[in-house]
Amino acid sequence: MQEIKGFSKLSKQAKIEWLVNAFFNGDPSVVENLESYWHNDQAIQKLHDEFIENTITNFYVPLGVAPNFKINGKMYCVPMAIEESSVVAAAAKSAGFWKDRGGFKATVIDTCKIGHVHFFWNGSNPKVLYEWFEKNKAVFTEQTKVLTANMEARGGGMKSVKLINKNHLEEGYFQLEARFETVDAMGANFINSCLEQLSKTLETELSGSDLADCDKEVEIVMCILSNYTPECIVKVEVSCPVDELTIGENVEPIDFAEKFIRAIRIANIEPYRATTHNKGIMNGIDSVALATGNDFRAIEACAHAYASRDGQYKSLTNATIDSDNTFRFWIEVPMALGTVGGITKLHPTVKFCHELLGRPGAEELMMIVAATGLAQNFGAVRSLVTTGIQKGHMKMHLLNILNQLEATDQEKEIIRKEFETKTVSHKAVVDAFCSLRGIKSDHKTLKGK
Ligand code: MEV
Repeated sequence: MQEIKGFSKLSKQAKIEWLVNAFFNGDPSVVENLESYWHNDQAIQKLHDEFIENTITNFYVPLGVAPNFKINGKMYCVPMAIEESSVVAAAAKSAGFWKDRGGFKATVIDTCKIGHVHFFWNGSNPKVLYEWFEKNKAVFTEQTKVLTANMEARGGGMKSVKLINKNHLEEGYFQLEARFETVDAMGANFINSCLEQLSKTLETELSGSDLADCDKEVEIVMCILSNYTPECIVKVEVSCPVDELTIGENVEPIDFAEKFIRAIRIANIEPYRATTHNKGIMNGIDSVALATGNDFRAIEACAHAYASRDGQYKSLTNATIDSDNTFRFWIEVPMALGTVGGITKLHPTVKFCHELLGRPGAEELMMIVAATGLAQNFGAVRSLVTTGIQKGHMKMHLLNILNQLEATDQEKEIIRKEFETKTVSHKAVVDAFCSLRGIKSDHKTLKGK
């Protein structure tokens, strides 16, 4: 009963019916639960249904906002879609801290995106292919014109195509590498369409050429953009005199600054720490990417590849104290984002997030997203080197524990107050809850709730 043919052809109702019968013994409460997440407005629900195949319901993730982000002098309230309790709080706290110290200074360094036609050519001599390509290069650009015209009108397009010999990696392996400017679009469809046209041009022009027969054959393996975009890069920095690093945790600013830099240094030399360090940065980056309808998997993959560009996986952020006693903390991260196309103009909540940010273009959004990553990292490292991460983290997690215990609003309020001065742990919260209800504290039973 758990195998099915033609599932995608079934109606939504029939899909749910099959699922519930096959995996939940036909339990009607499962259907009820799935349906309870459908949107009231049928047209909006239909929109969601059609984003992907086999939609059965919507999956809720909270959308929070982190106000007080001052970036290049402009104030933003940043939307963040994320399930992890402490992330928005940490971003908001850091944003407020840096707003009073000049804010985030951001620069987009470049916006070039890259794609490849991966192919094999086993002709007489690579020189023959290079010479032929150089002579016929204009044809490649010419034949993509019908695809690039609209993008060119918007200031983008295909900027260059070159032939690369990759025989040192695999015998016969070559690439056509094309560079693109996609302006406010993430540009995946545009780039892939251009690459597929380039591969057709390669095949047809080569086979119709006057080269020797053995040089006319090419095997196209695939045409695809690269999510590694080290030339589509943004830098965001915060800085202030060391004396102004007053973090109110009974720590001298200079001690804090030095310990902070030491923590960053550890993330630069120790991949175990670098991974967690960068994960914290991605808490910020991904949540804004998701809220603005961007492909956070592409952004993640790219960021981690970039973090390994020297052959060792390292921190995406860095910090120094300059000779004039200025503390500087910055992130440099590649990021291919779009503010048009995809679901950006379709998904009602994504549209709201773009409006909340003042409808930024792709470059402005790159700066906002990277600033959120930097803020997140500042918050995490600040906690790590002062109070420890669990204090803030568990404070935010307290509500999750209380919700698991099905505490009432009144009970939550009483226990929240109680823990303002106590360390939050799962056991301590269960004990407090049981004592409030006057029941025996059975940690194990309640844990499974
Ligand atoms: C948790 O989601 C992220 C942190 O672990 C990041 C870090 O350790 O820097 C707190």
